[in-house]
Amino acid sequence: MAEITLSHVKMGYTRKKLAVDDVTLTIGSGEFFVLLGPSGCGKTTLLRLISGISVPSEGDVLFDGVSVKDTAPQDRNVAMVFQNFALYPHRTVYRNISYPLECRKMPKEEIDRKVREIAEIFGIASLLDKRPRVLSGGQRQLVAIARAMVRRPAVFLLDEPFSNLDAELRDALRAQVRKAHRLLPETAFVYVTHDQNEAMSLSDRIAVMKDGRIMAQGSAAEIYERPDSLFAAEFIGSPKINLLPAVLLTEGGTRKADVGGQVLELPLLKEDPDVGKDGAEVLIGIRPEEIIPENAATAGTQERIRLSGRFEGLARAGAGVQILFTVDGISGTFSSLATHGFPAEAGERIHFGIRKSAVQVFDKDSGKNISNKTGSAQGTEAAGGGLT
Ligand SMILES: Nc1ncnc2c1ncn2[C@@H]1O[C@H](COP(=O)(O)OP(=O)(O)OP(=O)(O)O)[C@@H](O)[C@H]1O
Ligand SMILES: [Mg+2]
Repeated sequence: MAEITLSHVKMGYTRKKLAVDDVTLTIGSGEFFVLLGPSGCGKTTLLRLISGISVPSEGDVLFDGVSVKDTAPQDRNVAMVFQNFALYPHRTVYRNISYPLECRKMPKEEIDRKVREIAEIFGIASLLDKRPRVLSGGQRQLVAIARAMVRRPAVFLLDEPFSNLDAELRDALRAQVRKAHRLLPETAFVYVTHDQNEAMSLSDRIAVMKDGRIMAQGSAAEIYERPDSLFAAEFIGSPKINLLPAVLLTEGGTRKADVGGQVLELPLLKEDPDVGKDGAEVLIGIRPEEIIPENAATAGTQERIRLSGRFEGLARAGAGVQILFTVDGISGTFSSLATHGFPAEAGERIHFGIRKSAVQVFDKDSGKNISNKTGSAQGTEAAGGGLT
C-alpha cells in the first residue's frame, strides 16, 4: 500500500523548459489514477518522477507521507511498463514472469504459486508454456504486465501500454487491466494515456495535463460535467463541448450572460473578487447532449434556459446524430446530440432548451471555470430530474 503525493514538483530536461511544472497531486493507495493529456505534456516525466528514474529539481515526492527523494528506484516498490518492452525470446512465458523472483532467490514453490496467481489475474494462465514469438501483440503485452506485477509492487506505473494495438484488442486489454486492479486492491495503478475514452473508462480519478501542468483533476464524471479549466473541457468529450462567447451582467440581482444579444440566466458563479465581474468576457460551455432543440413541431413544455438560432443540418456521431445549428447574434456552428434526427429544414428557425446546472462559465482570459462547484458534477439535479 502506498499513497503517493507530489508536492509542487518541478523538473526539466533542459534549462529553458520545464517538463513538469509545479505539479501537486495525491494518488490514493489502491487507486486507479489516469494521467491524460496531449503528446509532450509531461505524462511520462511524471511517471519517471514517481518511479525515481528522475528526481525533481524543486518540490517533493512522498510515499505515505515520507519523502522518497533520496530513495533509489529499486527501493521504492514500484513497477513500470512502457509502450515498447522486451520479453526474453528464449524463455517461456512462465520463465519470463518468474525472472524477477528468481533474481531475488525466492524458493521455487513460492515462485510457482506467485507466477500462477498473477497469470490467472491477467488471463494468461493457458500461455505459460509458450514462447513469446507465438503470442499476439496483446498477449505479449499482458505477459510484460504480469512480469512487472509478479513482485506485487505498491505502485504500478503503466505508460500507454496498449497504444500500438488495434482498437478492439485495446478494449479487451483495458477490461483485463481494470479487472486485475480489482483483484489487486493493495496496488495503486497510475496509467498514462492521451486517449480520453481510455481515461474515462478506466479511471477512479483523472488528472488532465498540458505543458507540464495539471489543468483539471477529479473523477471522470466531475471532469466531464464540471472541468476546472477550459482546456480540460475541450480536451474531453466527443462531439466537443459548445463554447459560446458572452459577456456577464447582473439583472434584478441575478447573474446573466449576454450571448450575442440573447440574455441567459446563469447558475451560481464563484464568489471571487477577481473573476466573474459584470462586463467580463466569458465562454459559456454546454455539452451537446445538454442542448435540446425544439421547433414548432417539437416544442416542449419544460422550463429551461432558452436560446434561439437556425438549424444547419445533421451529422452522424457514433451511435447518435449531431444536430448542427447557429446561434443568433454570434458566429460559429454549434452542436447538440440526439439519438435520431431532427425534423427541420436547413435554415429553419429553431430554439434550444438547456438545463441551467449544465451550463459552465469559463473566464476568457485565464480559462478558469468560474461556475460554482455545487449544483453541477454532483448529479443531484440529474438524479432528481429537476430542470431549472
Ligand atoms: N530526454 C529528454 N531530453 C530532453 N527533453 C525531453 C526528454 N524527454 C522528454 N523531453 C521533453 O519534455 C517534455 C515532456 O515530455 P514527456 O515525454 O514527459 O511527455 P509525454 O506527455 O509523455 O508525451 P507523449 O505522449 O508523446 O509520450 C516534452 O516537451 C519533451 O520534448
Ligand atoms: Mg510519454
